[in-house]
Parts: sequence; structure tokens; C-alpha cells
Amino acid sequence: MEFIKVNDYQAMSERACSIMIETINRIKNPVLGLATGSTPEGLYQKIIEKFNEGKVSFQDVTTFNLDEYVGLDREDVNSYYRYMKEKLFNHVDIKLERVHLPNGAAADLEAECQRYEKQIRQAGKIDLQILGMGINGHIGFNEPGTPFSSRTHVVELEASTREANSRFFPTLDDVPTQALTMGIATIMESKEILLLVSGEQKAEAIARLTDGDISEDFPASILRNHPNVTVIVDEGAMVLAK
Ligand code: F6R
Repeated sequence: MEFIKVNDYQAMSERACSIMIETINRIKNPVLGLATGSTPEGLYQKIIEKFNEGKVSFQDVTTFNLDEYVGLDREDVNSYYRYMKEKLFNHVDIKLERVHLPNGAAADLEAECQRYEKQIRQAGKIDLQILGMGINGHIGFNEPGTPFSSRTHVVELEASTREANSRFFPTLDDVPTQALTMGIATIMESKEILLLVSGEQKAEAIARLTDGDISEDFPASILRNHPNVTVIVDEGAMVLAK
């Protein structure tokens, strides 16, 4: 696991943007794994700027998002599909038929998980997976206790995760209780992983990632077993790390 320490959120986003563009420009039909949440918003803004400058094209890019809420329609203002369109896809030349997110409104959620897993397999491996990390160490929506062998599955969201995400919803009660997420084994099959971590609220999680055990109690710890992980972390998130 390689750590790149940067001053702040902007610098983290710029560094991540360079890595993502380098990947897109190097690989013929790149497959990207994407995340939502606050962490990658700056990255997506920078990508749009570079797209407008003609430095990158998404014509040949295929994407798979990590997760989606259960029970929200694709176009719901809080769905991750809508987030991705508003924060990135609407502003670049990506072909929407190459965009994939699990369908949280599917009637048969188990079948949807299997379908998604199969789609990822058929696309070949994910070349670059972007990850954020929850304060409890979750990656995707794989909460503590999720088996490292997990594949795309339905999860019950932890109270702390619902609370953290309630900032996007009118009230806490409006935050879905379930989500579909790529599993930890699915994420670990990516050829390269880029974990972005910013801010003091993530300081404990970073300290545990660097100094703690590799344990299902702290899902992100498994990343230490992956051969090609880069963590871009800002000073705020490093305050507790040794
Ligand atoms: C989002 C995702 C989550 C977030 C994590 C951090 O697709 O999979 O694991 O990366 O909850 O969220 P933020 O970035 O909002 O702190």
C-alpha cells in the first residue's frame, strides 16, 4: 500500500485526477470502478475541467459504481445514479450504455446482485477502482463484519452510516435502510485501487488502516493485502497516524 500525503482536499482531488486520466489514456478500453459520497466530488470536478481542456475523453470508458441505495428509483434525487450523472456523466462524453450501477429498485434484489457481478466479470477486471472510506472503515457499503469473501450483495446500513449520509436527505428517516454493494472480494479483484481519504473525521480510520490488524471488523484493512493500492490522504486525516 503506497501512501501519498497531500496538504488538503484540493490537492488530493488533483492527484487523484492525474492518476485517473493517466489510466484512461494508457488503457485501450478502460474499466473504471467509481464511488459516490463527498470524497470524490472534487476529483470529478477536476476531471470535468480536464475534459473541457481536451485532456481526456470517456468515449471508450466503461464504469461500474460501487453501490446504490435500495428502494430509490434510478432518477430519484438521492440515488447514486443521479449523483453520478450530475457530478460527472452529464459533463463528459461517456456513453450512458457503458455506465453501470446496481439497480436498487429491482424487484428481485438477489438476482440483481448476481446480474451485476456477472456484468463486472464480463467487462474483464476493473482497471482502476476509486474508493472512499467510511469512519467505521467501510468500503463500498461493506460494513464491519462483512466477510472478506463477499460478492455483490444486499446490506443493512449501520446507524452511523445512515446518520453520516443523512446530510443529503430531508430527514434521517428518509435515508434508506438497505443498499446494494459490490462485495469485498469483488473490489479486491480490481487491478489497481485508489483510496481517497480527507479530513479529521477520518483520522481514526486512517490510524486503524495503517496500524491496526487486518480484520473483518475493519473492512478497509483488507486493502493491505492488495498488490496495487494507492492511498491519497490529506493532513487532516493524518493527525492521529504515527
Ligand atoms: C460511496 C461509498 C462509500 C463512501 C464512504 C465515504 O459510493 O461506497 O463507501 O466512499 O461512505 O463517504 P464520504 O466520501 O461521503 O465520506
